[in-house]
Amino acid sequence: MSTFNDTFLRAARGEPTEHVPVWFMRQAGRSLPGYRELRKKYDMLTLAQTPELAAQVSLEPVERLGVDAAILFADIMLLPIAMGVGVRIIDAVGPIIDAPVTNARDVAKLRPFEPANIEYLQQTIKLLRKDLNVPLIGFSAAPFTLASYLIEGEPTRKWLKTKRFMFEQTEAWNQLMETLSDAIIGYLRTQVNAGAQALQLFDSWVGCLAPADYRDYVLPHVQRIFAALADTGVPRIHFGTDTAGLLTDFASVDCEVIGLDWRVDLDRAKQLIGPKAIQGNLDPAILLSDQATIHAHVDQIFKALPSRTGYIFNFGHGVLPETDDAKLKQLVEYIHAQ
Ligand code: CP3
Repeated sequence: MSTFNDTFLRAARGEPTEHVPVWFMRQAGRSLPGYRELRKKYDMLTLAQTPELAAQVSLEPVERLGVDAAILFADIMLLPIAMGVGVRIIDAVGPIIDAPVTNARDVAKLRPFEPANIEYLQQTIKLLRKDLNVPLIGFSAAPFTLASYLIEGEPTRKWLKTKRFMFEQTEAWNQLMETLSDAIIGYLRTQVNAGAQALQLFDSWVGCLAPADYRDYVLPHVQRIFAALADTGVPRIHFGTDTAGLLTDFASVDCEVIGLDWRVDLDRAKQLIGPKAIQGNLDPAILLSDQATIHAHVDQIFKALPSRTGYIFNFGHGVLPETDDAKLKQLVEYIHAQ
């Protein structure tokens, strides 16, 4: 095994690195040929719950693309499954909940998280640590994003049921957020204990909220999660999309890195975030363009970047399924040459 490449961990801690580290959200999966081949035989949940297969999927982008970090092949819905929620993953749709959460009684039915319910994930992490020469990122969804799937029952881009629940049944909402936050803390801690070397909290959909509502209904729970994980000692990344109006609040949590999407300029974002490291923020749709366009957009990001120290290159959201993996590999090389 070659020497351990810790550029991602050092950048996350705000330390200088010999090159800018890069990884891609959703790098382990849909855009890679090895993953697509495996999916002919197994569904997504079977892959995620079978340690040898999940480890193989997590390794593929590291070996094929040369990225500086691996992400556990899993899904945000594995946690609700561990809490007794019936979830199906439908191809080209996403997670479907058998019995969506509609009131306080449904919230009370959620089971507390037990590490024993994710034995397979711990096994995957242990297998990966034997083979990887880059850091392994564990992750969870944040409570708002998880709650939105549980309440809507299916993927949405409007979050109307979720907002109605939050405003009309505020007590049940807070109970739901507390139950999910406790579970998220246990879930992430279990991943670190098994060997995860960094953590990312995905609040993919929280950008749909007004800043004042974010502060009232969500932020205290997220602050509690990050504070509870401080003693793990691993870098913690707080990621969301559409957060340009939330960045000061977003950065008020006890974490090392803020993940940004492309709807904000990096220099403006950095001013709002302050001394924490930043990760992002190329629009993944750019990868569908020709190489000159890709390079021009990357150059723009580096121009807007106040400092290369404390910076991790990523997309602003997940790799699109249509992306050509040869272009991803070329992009990694281009970033490393900056
Ligand atoms: O995309 C994000 O916003 C990141 C957070 C997130 C994940 N899953 C993390 C993930 C979200 C919001 C989900 C929900 C989900 N689960 C969706 C999106 C539905 C929607 O609302 O649009 C889907 C399609 C799933 C099911 C799923 N998860 C599949 C089919 C796969 C494998 C192939 C793929 O699409 O990448 C996953 C893997 C997955 N979900 C990973 C992560 C971090 C794997 C690790 C990685 O490479 O990042």
